Amino acid sequence: MASQTAPLSELIGHHRPGHALQQPFYTSPEIYEADLEAIFYREWLYAFPACLLDKTGSYQRLRIGAYDVIVIRDGQGEIRAFHNTCRHRGSVICSATKGRVAKLTCPYHQWTYDLDGRLIWARDMAADFDATKHGLKPVQCRDVAGLVYICLAEDAPDFDAFAETVRPYLGVHDLSNAKVAHQSTIIEKGNWKLVWENNRECYHCAGNHPDLCRTYPEDPSITGVNPDGTFPEKVETHFNRMEAAGAPSRFRMAQDGQYRVARMPLLDGAESYTINGKIAVQKRLGQVPTLDAGTLLLFHYPTTWNHFLTDHSITFRVTPIGPQETEVQTTWLVNKDAVEGVDYDLENLTRVWTHTNDEDRRVVEDNQQGINSPAYEPGPYSTTHEDGVLQFVNWYLDRMRSTHAPQTLAAE
Ligand code: FES
Ligand SMILES: [Fe+2]
Repeated sequence: MASQTAPLSELIGHHRPGHALQQPFYTSPEIYEADLEAIFYREWLYAFPACLLDKTGSYQRLRIGAYDVIVIRDGQGEIRAFHNTCRHRGSVICSATKGRVAKLTCPYHQWTYDLDGRLIWARDMAADFDATKHGLKPVQCRDVAGLVYICLAEDAPDFDAFAETVRPYLGVHDLSNAKVAHQSTIIEKGNWKLVWENNRECYHCAGNHPDLCRTYPEDPSITGVNPDGTFPEKVETHFNRMEAAGAPSRFRMAQDGQYRVARMPLLDGAESYTINGKIAVQKRLGQVPTLDAGTLLLFHYPTTWNHFLTDHSITFRVTPIGPQETEVQTTWLVNKDAVEGVDYDLENLTRVWTHTNDEDRRVVEDNQQGINSPAYEPGPYSTTHEDGVLQFVNWYLDRMRSTHAPQTLAAE
């Protein structure tokens, strides 16, 4: 087995297909940095729902590895993103994690920027000082049907194919008329890849998620993808019925495996993720044609998975904090006109995923601790239940190969 000091390309070369990754991928500070450089500093990253910035000047601050970013709604209603570093001597401009401002004023010497990033005031500078050359550095930012993504790379990868693929699916969920009902931020003491691997299988669901399993079918022979790429009859019937009713539903996956969208059925009779299986919000978000439409599943590596339901939507954001620490932020969205206590009960709305997140946190942390043992050896994936984990790991290795492997290294 390769040692922790082996170069990344060597570790990738030693990866055993169909098996979990070797220990350093989950423990090594060097590989954590390599993950940031190769993936998080290059790819499009989900930030949050656009409705979170509900007014001009509303902003949220994001930390991704070494980067510090302000995402803000400008005077024209556009959402923009900037590096949170002043063009004078580099102070952060926003020190709070969120808020609302009329202008972006640096706390150090009060250089002041308009919400579009232009420097509009800097006291007592030389006569030849050119303010137009000292605007805030922009970060690429896109709003896809109410979901905000940013990209730290100046030369961002194509985003149009993703946006065009998912926009029709999201249309019926009408996120432009959403508001945030609740947000939770938890820290999982596990590598970000373990968080994803856990998300991409339901092998663990029956043993760990009693609330979720009331409505979410964990049996892949009912809701998975067949080995030949076709779908179980129940899923095929669901796709056809929903598409005929006007809700795009059919499974689509990016060629390179970075994202997937599909509207999957819940257990018979279930409408939403609640204990009794009924909708949680009477004033529904979107125009999903039937209550038994199931859940529109959308993931986009490396930062987000989502559940868009018939009555509300839930978005999840994954942010690596360290080699063995990952933040998971969950946002529950409801119709902006829905009134808490009248149209929905917050505990009923959030219970299933609050519990599920905590259960997932525990299994991820147990997974990390076991991997930290010198006795850890990557084991084989279940061919019935863990094809999603395999898919994620292959996507990850492909990305790392493209930046770290010798040209001659063969892909799996
Ligand atoms: S560092 Fe921002 S005004 Fe001086
Ligand atoms: Fe889980």
